[in-house]
Amino acid sequence: MKQDFGSRFEFLDQNGTFRFMNPFNIHELYLPLCNEAGLMSSVTPALHGDIKTDQHHFIMQPVTIEDLHNSKASRNFWFHVHGEGAWSAAGNSARQNSLIYDGSYEITRTVEAGLLWHKLTYHDSSSALTSEILSFVPVNEDRVEVMYVTVINSGSKDVCVTPTSAIPLYGRSADNVRDHRHVTSLVNRIGLHRYGVSMKPVIVFDERGHRYNHTIFFVFGCEQDGTLPVGSIPSAHDFIGKAGSYDWPEAVAGNAGLQEYAGEQLNGRECVGALRFRDAVLSPGDQKDYIILIGTCDDSANTDTVFERYNTKDKVMKLLQANKDHWNSIANSTTYGSGLKDFSNWMKWVNIQPVLRKIYGCSFLPHHDYGKGGRGWRDLWQDCLSLIIGDPDGVRDLLITNFGGVRVDGTNATIIGTKTGEFVADRNNIARVWMDHGCWPYITTKLYIDQSGDFSILLERQPYFRDSLVMRAAQRDVLWKDSQGLNLKTKDGGIYQGTVLEHLLVQHLCAFFNVGGHNMIRLEGADWNDTLDMAREHGESVAFSALYAGNLISLWGLLLKMKEELGIDRIEVFQELKLLLDSISGETQYNKPEYKISQLAAYLEAVNTSIAGTKAFVEIADLSRDLRVKGEWLNKRIREYEWIRTASGDGFFNGYYNNEGQRVDGEHEGEVIMNLTAQVFTAMYGLATDEQVAAGYQSCRRYLKDASTGGYRLNTDLGSNRLNFGRCFSFAYGEKENGSVFCHMVVIYSYALYKRGFVHEAYEVFRSLYDLSSDVEKSGIYPGIPEYFNLSGKGMYHYLTGSASWTSLLVLTEMYGVRGEYGELVIEPKLMAEQFDHDGRALVSAWFAGRKVNVKYQNSKRLDYLDYMIAKAAVNGIDISGMIRDGVVRIPKDIGRAETNQGKADLDIVLELG
Ligand code: G1P
Repeated sequence: MKQDFGSRFEFLDQNGTFRFMNPFNIHELYLPLCNEAGLMSSVTPALHGDIKTDQHHFIMQPVTIEDLHNSKASRNFWFHVHGEGAWSAAGNSARQNSLIYDGSYEITRTVEAGLLWHKLTYHDSSSALTSEILSFVPVNEDRVEVMYVTVINSGSKDVCVTPTSAIPLYGRSADNVRDHRHVTSLVNRIGLHRYGVSMKPVIVFDERGHRYNHTIFFVFGCEQDGTLPVGSIPSAHDFIGKAGSYDWPEAVAGNAGLQEYAGEQLNGRECVGALRFRDAVLSPGDQKDYIILIGTCDDSANTDTVFERYNTKDKVMKLLQANKDHWNSIANSTTYGSGLKDFSNWMKWVNIQPVLRKIYGCSFLPHHDYGKGGRGWRDLWQDCLSLIIGDPDGVRDLLITNFGGVRVDGTNATIIGTKTGEFVADRNNIARVWMDHGCWPYITTKLYIDQSGDFSILLERQPYFRDSLVMRAAQRDVLWKDSQGLNLKTKDGGIYQGTVLEHLLVQHLCAFFNVGGHNMIRLEGADWNDTLDMAREHGESVAFSALYAGNLISLWGLLLKMKEELGIDRIEVFQELKLLLDSISGETQYNKPEYKISQLAAYLEAVNTSIAGTKAFVEIADLSRDLRVKGEWLNKRIREYEWIRTASGDGFFNGYYNNEGQRVDGEHEGEVIMNLTAQVFTAMYGLATDEQVAAGYQSCRRYLKDASTGGYRLNTDLGSNRLNFGRCFSFAYGEKENGSVFCHMVVIYSYALYKRGFVHEAYEVFRSLYDLSSDVEKSGIYPGIPEYFNLSGKGMYHYLTGSASWTSLLVLTEMYGVRGEYGELVIEPKLMAEQFDHDGRALVSAWFAGRKVNVKYQNSKRLDYLDYMIAKAAVNGIDISGMIRDGVVRIPKDIGRAETNQGKADLDIVLELG
């Protein structure tokens, strides 16, 4: 029988704190808990999930989403109730789990959670006990997860209990789940402490060369006043017993005394943090608290000191508060007041997501069962978008350093290590180029310059990345050794340093010339859609050709502004790059793919293993014109050749050519094939005419909007037999990159529509995502934006997604209209009537140019977008209505600073009938 769990979700305050009563999906719902010291946990309402510091240091055994359903080895805390038997405070015992399906028991399992802590409250009517288990990871240097367990006698009689924690300690690399799981337990050495157990493998098991291990994994604990446990049962198999299991351990079920385990064999065993506490008698209403620490430290650390940082309730609560303060300050870097229910709270969770991805990379939450940590190239650059919004000054160096990952052939290092500027050369030995990678650094750098007005970043210098892959990864330099250093050198052996601007040029120029048979930029190993990975020879991406075109034209404008701002007329580039600036010196033949291919080949040949080191100067006027010519050529080509009209009169852009050189989108034998990505990037910068944007949107509604969820799918169903294009088409339709509501692209679509002034459409697209995300009871995820929704509306791959950065960008700069333009502060709200509260107010508070800008929009009549205009503007009480031009407030950089040099700027914007 299907259970009605009576789920109910609600926010409790303005800090994103929520309560989820009886979540129906207790085995899939997970919350991240982490700190910058590198401890990464996930925790479910059944206290399942894992804890680790990296791929090779899993404190608890790695779990994927499937393990959350199947495995019993979760965090647990047991009470043997004398006269009654075993009771799990996490509600996770074989007996209690079976009660869910026995209608005669009442069960309440409530999760309260906030930034970033998790509290489970559990009660079932089979017992007098009620538990509360609070989990968090302190924001200090320790790699520790704290579990604070409270048990209350909510019955009417005295109860005597024997408490025992049960935390299975795995303590090794994720690789060992299947690779010598048993043998790696033989190297374990279990240590007994007054306050718990530790496990230290003697060696790091690695058949390429074993090393001595210096990491200790531990479970320590005490009562709330520091009273130590009475002992432990650290051998997992002894604890479980011959016929037991983690959800019914014999040591608890039979309430065996510690003396029964005395003298047990501890070397070479699987370990469990089973700390036994003294028996307690709880009268009705009585409560007992226990502190459990699950963590890891170096063997040079003094474990007494670690334990003593947490051994009283007072200490733990202070750390909990510090943890809340830390995460709230990140979540509150940009805040909103809105008439849209729960929007402000939802944005708090969106705001922290890019920080979570910085910590977890794209791995290490239950859905993210791939990779070994670290982020990909495009993720790195897009996550920087939200960092720029929060604090442009702090991001400057990071951006410059990141350019060190660009190769001189326009490709780049694909894996980014956890340390800034750490680029990893081709880790899986797969030579692969993602053709979109060159686009993202420009978008991020442009945002930085807009928000800060700092053009000088363009002239900062950085080396180029160099590894064995050359000629856009088409060849390997067999003479190359990574030990030579991962930097491009000049012929005389020096490390070459080019400007940030030059790196951007390299990326865009190489892409422009790298075309296939239809004169669109080649798809190579894939584009943003990682799964379009089977069209390396003849595939082309129209979608990203459009983005490159937009960037080229935008670069033209940026260069002219830079010329003016920095007072320079020419810039320096390495000599060989001039081969790609062909329109400056001669005739071009862009209509011929062969021309472009041969231009690129000549360039790649010239920079193959090193560059000469000769510098050339280019006039900015010439350079910018060259870029504009290229961008406009590409725009025109796409507009004319890639626009599709169906028999029924619908219009949209083709996105791709497959590996047989066939156009993918369009009407094929009466069936319409369409993808979202091509509509996004053609709309974003102005390639598509207004009519095309409008028609494209109508086509999206008709072919991509899913009737049941209301979400926009990434593509129509192409059928599963598409290995001439990409692996995704073998995924079930409606999942992941094959036709799901893939949030990242939908958010960017909404952003593009806002930019083009299609505000009602943009908002409708945004709402489709917001409605799905905020319907927690349906999506089955906590607040925030996931990677995608499948066609039943279920949120998947929550937290670690590029969608969050783009949502932050969209909401601040387009929807609430607070953005920089070359350092000028521009206020241009694009809010709908329902986004103003009952008093007609909409609020946003954000950082701009080093100060907090608090904008209050007053729309007393709650007029809709297009009906209102900015009638008055004031900053810190001073009228600046004179700065309203064409319905937009523009506060110049210098004036803005003078008027607002009180450390903050309070802007009052009055919206009236326009
Ligand atoms: C993920 C990857 C991203 C890729 C996208 C589509 O997206 O992280 O690099 O472009 O899939 O294949 P995300 O989860 O960041 O939205």
